[in-house]
Amino acid sequence: MARLFEPFTQRDLTLRNRIAVAPMCQYSAVDGLPDHWHLVHLGSRATGGAGAVLAEATAVSPEGRISAQDTGIWNDAQVAAWQPITAFIEAQGAVPGVQLAHAGRKASVHQPWRGGGPLTAVEGAWATVGPSALPFDDGWHVPQALDEAGLRKVIADFRAAAQRALDAGFKLVEVHGAHGYLLHQFLSPLSNHRTDNYGGSFDNRTRLLREVVAAIREVWPEGLPVWLRISATDWAEGGWNAEESVELARQVKLLGVDLIDVSSGGLVPHVKIPLGPGYQVPFAAQIRREADIPTSAVGLITEAAQAEAILAEGAADVISIARESLRDPYFPRRAAHELGASIQAPVQYQRAW
Ligand code: FNR
Repeated sequence: MARLFEPFTQRDLTLRNRIAVAPMCQYSAVDGLPDHWHLVHLGSRATGGAGAVLAEATAVSPEGRISAQDTGIWNDAQVAAWQPITAFIEAQGAVPGVQLAHAGRKASVHQPWRGGGPLTAVEGAWATVGPSALPFDDGWHVPQALDEAGLRKVIADFRAAAQRALDAGFKLVEVHGAHGYLLHQFLSPLSNHRTDNYGGSFDNRTRLLREVVAAIREVWPEGLPVWLRISATDWAEGGWNAEESVELARQVKLLGVDLIDVSSGGLVPHVKIPLGPGYQVPFAAQIRREADIPTSAVGLITEAAQAEAILAEGAADVISIARESLRDPYFPRRAAHELGASIQAPVQYQRAW
């Protein structure tokens, strides 16, 4: 029996297999509203057979968007727009998940196909926030350091977003604590130079993330899981590292996080990352082993046998697939075929299977 096609149960929720479609920004929404593109994009990957389909980094507030075209979940119109999408994903047998996000100092930029750089005032740039008034890179927006009221708003926005995610029909929320966005900016000493309770020591740098998780758990049902995506390392001297990731995982587990989705990088521009097949898997393995918490492995996992081996060696519980699922929404069906596992086709497609 292929491990990749064993169900995965957390709390009262079961994924039909261990394949999750990783959150991927589409930069294609107007006013934060998902539309037909998002329905077809996410829906195709649900019909493709994944166990969970995670909607892209979805902003908890307008200023928390990466680009003006990000999806959002800060108002009721957005809840209504997500509802048919989550219903469709679920009707295909996949778990609909959403990544809740705030971009912090990396907000207010162009879509990648327009270069991805910071917007100018004429182009509609908005004021960004962060732990400290330090830009991401030369020429990027200098964020305003969040004050006490600003911090309370961020926490309240994540809490309200989780409540709305539930109303929208999502069964899984993932907190975006990775890739150099706001929560990661607080974690890393390279972007967090605060001298108050939210900067300096490990406890202080992790405080905002821990408070966000606790706030989400206040409104998110006991029976449904919360995942946390982190960057296990900044790949930079003096930055956030794997040991801190393990300790953070231990702590958020006690706050009701059910799985760590283990990515890396994104905080420091121009760093050298040793890219290669499964290059982030060792971090998922270390966190799973040392913090005793389920993990998802992600990053250059493109082959069925590779995914199966990661599960077999105990490095992770879930395999998140991003770009390979853009190339092939039916990756799970291909993987099942290659691993000799059975997978149900949508009834409408059965004549082709
Ligand atoms: C991403 N990635 C990403 N990560 C994340 O946490 N939130 C997001 O919204 C996005 N958006 C996004 C868009 C697109 C088009 C791509 C290709 C990637 C990163 C993604 O989830 C994944 O971690 C990486 O792509 C590495 O996995 P793969 O692509 O090698 O399977």
